[in-house]
Amino acid sequence: MSIIPILYEDDCVKMIDQRLLPTQEVWLEYRDYRSVAEAIVTMVIRGAPAIGIAAAYGAALGAREIEASDFSDFTRKFQPICEELAATRPTAVNLFWALDRMKDCACSHQFLPLPDLKHRLLQEAHEIAREDLAMNEAMGKHGATLFPEEGTILTHCNAGALATGGYGTALGVVRAAVEMGKKIAVYADETRPFNQGSRLTAWELQRDAIPVTLICDNMAGALMAKGEIDGVIVGADRIAANGDVANKIGTYTVAVLAREHNIPFYVAVPTSTIDLSLADGSQIPIEERAEREVTHTGDIQLAPSGIAVRNPAFDVTPNRLVTAIITEKGVVQGDYANGLKALFD
Ligand code: MRU
Repeated sequence: MSIIPILYEDDCVKMIDQRLLPTQEVWLEYRDYRSVAEAIVTMVIRGAPAIGIAAAYGAALGAREIEASDFSDFTRKFQPICEELAATRPTAVNLFWALDRMKDCACSHQFLPLPDLKHRLLQEAHEIAREDLAMNEAMGKHGATLFPEEGTILTHCNAGALATGGYGTALGVVRAAVEMGKKIAVYADETRPFNQGSRLTAWELQRDAIPVTLICDNMAGALMAKGEIDGVIVGADRIAANGDVANKIGTYTVAVLAREHNIPFYVAVPTSTIDLSLADGSQIPIEERAEREVTHTGDIQLAPSGIAVRNPAFDVTPNRLVTAIITEKGVVQGDYANGLKALFD
């Protein structure tokens, strides 16, 4: 069974520290919402669906601490907790989707006594986590039919079990294809600067005995030109209403290369990653991260002191480069504006 990176046990939230993988497997425990917010900011947990689940549990832990005389008093105290969790990372819409769901849950159970309301919010966080796993398994089955019986698939970043409530989005499709008996091998882009590909994708596929070969980001084009890559699959942090895809920096480059070499480029997401409120990808907020991620690896300095650095953490792949968007409700191709909207009708 693939790893589940976030659990609720013994009245606390437990997360595997993804900063330490692949060399150390350390589980950290969280008992209050502020430390969960800190875990999201510092990348103990990352990946769009996983940070949504973490935020939901954070909100439930925050609610647990509230003393309130009535529901409006509760809301006054719950709102800033949700705001603090929402301020952790800007790009993945799953974070805001999960927090909205927790706020809606509180509203629709406002007549419960306070201890029951707190319990109901924890149940909602459990449901968000369980549903994510189920969506990934469903998405896997839809997506796996698109893969050849035998072939090599390139992925970028980590859209695996570690980035979700388990099984993974892009890697969930790979897992489902392998479970169907297809002979699929994976090329994992290392994914500079945070190295989610080399540290996390390589780790979780190797752990599950799925053939995986690590490459540097700048090797994909050469391997495509030699005919060594049959398809690309990635996850996403947010998909706009027209099908433009925000995902880890470097995804756009891979999509352009795939188009040049006539290789299908698939994106696998739960519907919680689709943001119909944004018309196109230009409106998706892109996180800029610390310069040090680019200039250093651990304590080793890779660039001259004082050098100017850019570090956008995500890019936007225009819909025209996307062969299909795979969701738990089915595969959308061609007319993304209508196809994505129909998923919510
Ligand atoms: O900065 P990260 O590691 O949170 O970025 C993660 C990604 O870009 C993933 O590809 C995306 O969240 C999809 S995860 C199923």
